[in-house]
Amino acid sequence: MRIVLLGPPGVGKGTQAKRLARINEVKHLTTGELVREEIRMGTPLGHEIQRYNDLGELVPDEVIVGMIKPYLTMTESWILDGFPRDETQARALEVMLDEAGLALDRVIALSAPDDELIDRLSGRRQSAATGKTYHLTFDPPPAGDPGPFIQRVDDSPEDIRHRLEVYHSRTEPLKRYYEERDLLSEVDAGGSMDATTEAILQVLGSVNR
Ligand code: AP5
Repeated sequence: MRIVLLGPPGVGKGTQAKRLARINEVKHLTTGELVREEIRMGTPLGHEIQRYNDLGELVPDEVIVGMIKPYLTMTESWILDGFPRDETQARALEVMLDEAGLALDRVIALSAPDDELIDRLSGRRQSAATGKTYHLTFDPPPAGDPGPFIQRVDDSPEDIRHRLEVYHSRTEPLKRYYEERDLLSEVDAGGSMDATTEAILQVLGSVNR
């Protein structure tokens, strides 16, 4: 299984990718987490890419492609979350998979109204103790998680607005790119987390039949 999850910030790509990876026993690959880990480690590359992340800008294509490449062939089954993000990255993915004799099975495009995305991102918190992601209202931290619960630097109202603009101008056109390749399935992710997981599983089930 090789699946791409496409969608705006806050639509639930990470939430759904973790669930699907657990259900299907496949690897969850996320470029957002790779970027944040590099920044956390304070490597020269981390310093170089921090300003893109903190401002909600896309990290340059050649840097991101170089970061994700080794993971794509480490295991044959994965769910890709946050990559590709523009047409250059989509073409690079095609080349990397071709070289490895692999192909994408499906691209799932998740969507929800921008107002809902802003609510989700504003309330998102990550536990410093467990690394788990929660939402103050929709998925509050359990009593057993000691926290503290940290807000991502790029989840400020200004950055959220900018990330949505970047998504609509650079990433959303990929829907058409994958539609033309007969790989796209669209899923409404405006409902509950469980309803969205169910809808994605239905799409994947009907594709596999
Ligand atoms: P990345 O980490 O990929 O950020 P993003 O795409 O903006 O997506 P998010 O992680 O913000 O949201 P999500 O869709 O995963 O939502 P989540 O499940 O957390 O990238 C960050 C940065 O890294 C980029 O800005 C860029 O700088 C760089 N980068 C990464 N990839 C790159 C690439 N390929 N090229 C260039 N640069 C790149 O859910 C959000 C919240 O909502 C959570 O609190 C969750 O609990 C809650 N929630 C989820 N689903 C629901 C639901 N159905 N109902 C209610 N609440 C929900």
